[in-house]
Parts: sequence; C-alpha cells; structure tokens
Amino acid sequence: MTDITPLLRDRWSPRGYDPAHTLSPEDAKLLLEAARWAPSAMNLQPWRFIVALRADALRPRLDRFVAGHSDWALDASALVVNICRSGDDQLGVAHYDLGDAVAHMCIEAEALGVHARQFISFDRQGLSREFGIVAPWTAVTMTAIGRPAAGLQPSGRERVDVSELLWKDI
Ligand SMILES: Cc1cc2nc3c(=O)[nH]c(=O)nc-3n(C[C@H](O)[C@H](O)[C@H](O)COP(=O)(O)O)c2cc1C
Repeated sequence: MTDITPLLRDRWSPRGYDPAHTLSPEDAKLLLEAARWAPSAMNLQPWRFIVALRADALRPRLDRFVAGHSDWALDASALVVNICRSGDDQLGVAHYDLGDAVAHMCIEAEALGVHARQFISFDRQGLSREFGIVAPWTAVTMTAIGRPAAGLQPSGRERVDVSELLWKDI
C-alpha cells in the first residue's frame, strides 16, 4: 500500500462533503478531460457525463434524484452522472470502459486536491426521464466530488490481502 503512487494510496471515498467548498468550472473541465483520455475497446468511448457544480442552474434538477437516496452527496461541490452506451454493446465491455473513464476522473479529482465517491443509490428512472437518457444510453452510476466534511476520516478501506488476488486454480 505504501509503495503505490500517492494519488492512489491517498484516495478514499468520503460519505459527507463540505458545503462551503466550491469547485471551479476550470477544474470541472479537467475532470472531463481526464475521462476523455481513458482507454476503451476499439476506442468507442461509450460514455457521456452530466456535470453539475453547486452553483449551476442544473444542480437542483439533479439533486432531486439524489435526495432521499444518498442525502450525504447533496453537499458535494460537484455531482456527476456517469452514462454508458450499453444498449448496443456488441463487445460486451461498455460498462467496463465507462468504469475506466470514471476512474480517470476520480484520480484527476485526487490530483486537484478533492475526493470522489461513486454511488448507485439514486433515482435512476426519474433522472433518466428528466434528462432524456434513453436506449442505447443508461445512467449507470453517479459521483460526488468535493472536500470531505470537517472531521470525516477514511473508513471502509479494508481489502483482501494481495496474496488473494492471484488466481489459484492453475
Ligand atoms: C460502482 C460503485 C457503486 C457504489 N455505490 C455506492 C452507494 O450507492 N452508496 C455509497 O455510499 N457508496 C457507494 N460506493 C462507494 C463504495 O462503497 C466504496 O468505494 C468502498 O466502500 C471502498 O471505499 P474507498 O473507495 O474509500 O476505498 C460505490 C462504489 C462504486 C465503485
């Protein structure tokens, strides 16, 4: 753990954000730029994002589908909807590609000095209706990005031992 790059070592997913912290539009652009440069099968780039900073007019439209499901995310400086073109996914790896792009975005967030938590507990149906997300596109996950709430410490960072990662039945 201690030997991996600090960007990965120090990454964690806060479940509470500082409501006073803001992310600039320039930083939001960098997050998208990082996702843009993720690899994907046949370079299909089967991803789209909705990015809403706290002050954006768009934000209340998005908050509605987070409230009651993931209230902890409402204070985040930015909310991102991670959307995948999976409905006509002949290679079967579109979700994988989206995950890679989201990982890029989350690590870029770390580099910007903020943290990110991905989540699936939102009103997917309602959100998809509101933003016209229809087949072949699906809203897969959301990401909350910002400065952790005061006093919040990393938790839930247990992992299986590295010795468990190697396939054994060979
Ligand atoms: C695809 C995905 C879905 C997740 N969904 C939720 C969620 O609905 N609610 C939540 O609180 N955390 C969610 N998480 C966060 C994980 O619980 C968290 O990443 C895990 O506990 C490991 O913690 P760490 O990221 O701080 O190392 C999700 C993470 C991923 C990658």
